Amino acid sequence: MLQDKITQYIEEIKAFAPTSTQDVEAFRLKFLVSKGIVKGLFEEFKTVSSEEKRELGKVLNEFKQLAENSYAEALEQFEGDSTDDQGANRTDLTLPGSGYVLGSRHPLSLVRKEIVDIFKKLGFIIADGNEIEDDWHNFSALNFAPEHPARDMQDTFFVKKEEGNDIVLRTHTSSVQVRLMEAGQPPFRAIMPGRVYRNEAISARAHCFFHQIEGLYVDEDVSFADLKQTLYHFVKELYGEDTKVRFRPSYFPFTEPSAEMDISCSICKGEGCQMCKQSGWVEILGCGMVDPNVLENCGIDSKKYSGYAFGMGIERITNLKYEIRDLRLFSENDVRFLAQFETETI
Ligand code: DAH
Repeated sequence: MLQDKITQYIEEIKAFAPTSTQDVEAFRLKFLVSKGIVKGLFEEFKTVSSEEKRELGKVLNEFKQLAENSYAEALEQFEGDSTDDQGANRTDLTLPGSGYVLGSRHPLSLVRKEIVDIFKKLGFIIADGNEIEDDWHNFSALNFAPEHPARDMQDTFFVKKEEGNDIVLRTHTSSVQVRLMEAGQPPFRAIMPGRVYRNEAISARAHCFFHQIEGLYVDEDVSFADLKQTLYHFVKELYGEDTKVRFRPSYFPFTEPSAEMDISCSICKGEGCQMCKQSGWVEILGCGMVDPNVLENCGIDSKKYSGYAFGMGIERITNLKYEIRDLRLFSENDVRFLAQFETETI
């Protein structure tokens, strides 16, 4: 009789699989308290014959051990989950998170995006090329004569010097125009942002690397008037409706005619300040009609097609927008500088 009961309870304990602290407590109340099953069986044990006692004593003790061990194990499983403080120690998963600061966008990235977005609305696509370029794409295809001073060691970082096929760090994004035109046929309408390199001593006004945005539009019957209208629109979008614009004749090997474009100083509104060296005007880009030689170098029929191009420095435009006077700030990664620009939190 007693033996049968013990066997039955052993089965029950072995099958015990608690899923909460309540189950564990129920186990304790059933088996281990003073009116519980273990104590009850020991009471019953007293009534059996001494012959049976010899046999059942060991079994009963083992059963008690099993019940106590199972309880201890179950307790451990739910350690940390407290029943008597009603879960006060548990993490409240419904609380809102504490949020963290994401950091800010780099001012050059902000301004690059602003510029690119203006041209995207006009139907320009974004194109890019290589920072390590060959002589052809950086110079020769762009109509630079072999002895042109821009090829000089003073300005260009050479990766490899080889007669007629130097490998350089691109000195301007105009190289991307060549890559784009070589890859297809007009119409081309693209905006090309990127980093460029020049062998210059680092100071507040010059750096060995900086950023440019190139623009190119080639199709039938593209004229200088198209160029001017596009740039007028661009400047007004970027700096406001009442910004004044002027073009000055200039020279670039890859455009003919060429011009530089000035805008009325966005800081002093043309009154004269340190930024515009008291002139009221600042130069922001170079531009012109793509030289027919450049079109031909890229496999495009210059009798059928014409185009305009322009190129600007993103640092210059950013300086004018945020009154930054030292180019070195852009690459020093000083968070006191960077944190001043658009910060986001999630
Ligand atoms: N590549 C010139 C520079 O780095 C800028 C430039 C001038 C680009 C005239 C052009 C252009 O596309 O038409 O100074």
